[in-house]
Amino acid sequence: MIVTIDGPAGAGKSSVSLKLADALGFFFLDTGAMYRCVTLACLRAKIDLSDPSAALEIAKSCEIELAKGSVKLNRDDVTREIRNPTVAKSIKPIAENPRIRELMVQQQRKICADRHCVTEGRDQGTVAFPDAQCKIFLTASPQERARRRVQQLLDNNIDADYDEILSQQNQRDQNDSSRQAGPLRAAPDAIVVITDGMTEQQVLEHLLGIVKDRLGQGRRQ
Ligand code: C5P
Repeated sequence: MIVTIDGPAGAGKSSVSLKLADALGFFFLDTGAMYRCVTLACLRAKIDLSDPSAALEIAKSCEIELAKGSVKLNRDDVTREIRNPTVAKSIKPIAENPRIRELMVQQQRKICADRHCVTEGRDQGTVAFPDAQCKIFLTASPQERARRRVQQLLDNNIDADYDEILSQQNQRDQNDSSRQAGPLRAAPDAIVVITDGMTEQQVLEHLLGIVKDRLGQGRRQ
């Protein structure tokens, strides 16, 4: 069974998707980590990221290993480095590159071919797994997402300015929704979950209910 979870930055997808996968005993696929790895590899190779052919060659040379709680790029542990703001700021031309997206989608399908997966990203229900049994589009208002992000940074003793976070987030939403290849949008058959005012535990229980309902439907068919 494949469960896809798509949605904008800051909707709390990553932590809830991981917990959902754990609760179901499914593999968790963080597809954002794959785009982050390719971006990091391009930065390390010091190529011009806006050169699509050079970036594609680097993407082809990336061996990405995703295990629980760890990400390896060509055998090097990059779990923390891919979360670096420089990587996030440089990701746009990589995520917009249609050939790189094709390569990532191929790898995502291969990873999920022989196991139950919760896969999280922007295009999982629309492009990577259009036939997934359960599709969720997880979102929240921009203000709520920015508030949560600020809180998360403050909890980690990092200074955060709400207006700056909101403006960066709006820019990312705009980049993710407007690209030609694999834009951020809900699949027509996705269940849209708006998490404003919900705790993470409430979101998790809600998603578990949706998945179990789908599993039950699958068995009845
Ligand atoms: O989910 P995360 O914030 O780690 O993703 C980093 C970036 O990778 C996103 O802003 C988005 O541009 C890109 N991405 C994508 N398609 C996916 C997952 C992530 O384009 N399936």
